[in-house]
Amino acid sequence: MPSVSEKGRSMPASPIRKLVPFAEEAKRKGKKVIHLNIGQPDIKTPKVALDAVKNNDLEVLEYSRTEGSDTYRKKLSGYYAKNDIHIDAADIIVTTGGSEALSFAMGSIADHGDEIIIPEPFYANYNGFATAVGVNVVPVTSHIDNNFALPPIEEFEKLITPKTKAILICNPGNPTGYLYTEEEIKKLAAMAKKHDLFLVADEVYREFTYDGCEHHSILREEGLEAHAIMIDSVSKRYSMCGARIGCLVTRNKEVIQTALKFAQARLSPPTYAQIASEAALDTPQQYFDEVKKEYVGRRDLLIAELEKIDGVKIGRPQGAFYCIVELPIEDADHFAQWLLKEYSLDGETVMVAPAGGFYASPGLGKNQIRIAYVLEKESLKRAVKILKEALKSYKG
Ligand SMILES: Cc1ncc(COP(=O)(O)O)c(C=O)c1O
Repeated sequence: MPSVSEKGRSMPASPIRKLVPFAEEAKRKGKKVIHLNIGQPDIKTPKVALDAVKNNDLEVLEYSRTEGSDTYRKKLSGYYAKNDIHIDAADIIVTTGGSEALSFAMGSIADHGDEIIIPEPFYANYNGFATAVGVNVVPVTSHIDNNFALPPIEEFEKLITPKTKAILICNPGNPTGYLYTEEEIKKLAAMAKKHDLFLVADEVYREFTYDGCEHHSILREEGLEAHAIMIDSVSKRYSMCGARIGCLVTRNKEVIQTALKFAQARLSPPTYAQIASEAALDTPQQYFDEVKKEYVGRRDLLIAELEKIDGVKIGRPQGAFYCIVELPIEDADHFAQWLLKEYSLDGETVMVAPAGGFYASPGLGKNQIRIAYVLEKESLKRAVKILKEALKSYKG
């Protein structure tokens, strides 16, 4: 029989997907499963975006330009300017989701066997993108006790080798919800310059910042033009995960030209979705104000309810819509399966994401879970009650 590639064999499966068959089985048996495990917001997509597609009279659904439509890229640069990020349309390549932008970025800056340092816990798919291009992820551990703040720069520097090509951060973070301060961004920028590394920032949750905190993009850093690569997406900003539109932004012309070749190989990003994304840029501020208010309310409720559970530790998020929770258990993988297979409270259970899959260092995060607060408050409250009661019954 022909065999699959070594690379294919080493592609990591999603740490969350592993639990899906258990959730399906639970549902087949009539249990209601409340999903705390996914990052699919229940927020409505802005009407302007949906209308732009509905009211469109395209007669041929053509390829768009490889780098994305001109009108969309121009309008995007206006959106960035409003966020005090001053870039030209030529600095943007529109991609099929932030996911493709991450793949293009890694493919453009690192060769087989090169290393990228990433604070852990991190968005688990970074492992998949890195494996696909043959890059090794080198983790630097951040800790729940300080809400997963940036680890000391010396910790990064200890890990830098001749193979290190980049530092990758997620700001605000999935799965931590941590929002880097301006000072932390400046420290990272200084390190990138000092060691001549790329600094890649995944800023797909830029709008989701709370408690009056401001987001600091790496593209605001002066003198970082050659080093900074920013990853963006419409998925969460406008609750348009299914549009599959993101972008890679950098002032480094060589990186743009290189990423463009990867983009040419896949021809173009989706046409209708670019129309929707361009229209979404006209979303009124009120939409974001309401969405933010909703997430703050959910976060506050989630934390208040979790704090009522004995032995629980929470990394307080100031951005995105996730948090890491440490539970008084030993093995979150086992606990998550048990919740689906064996436990229910009045016919309901919860599905959580064991956090081990968000760490690259073996054994870390074993007693932690990630919760996404993308459900409305009543469901969240109910979910935490189920978690609380489940912990009382769980024998480990
Ligand atoms: C941190 C982070 N980066 C990138 C992505 C990819 O998003 P998309 O490909 O939908 O733009 C996600 C999706 O959940 C994410 O959480």
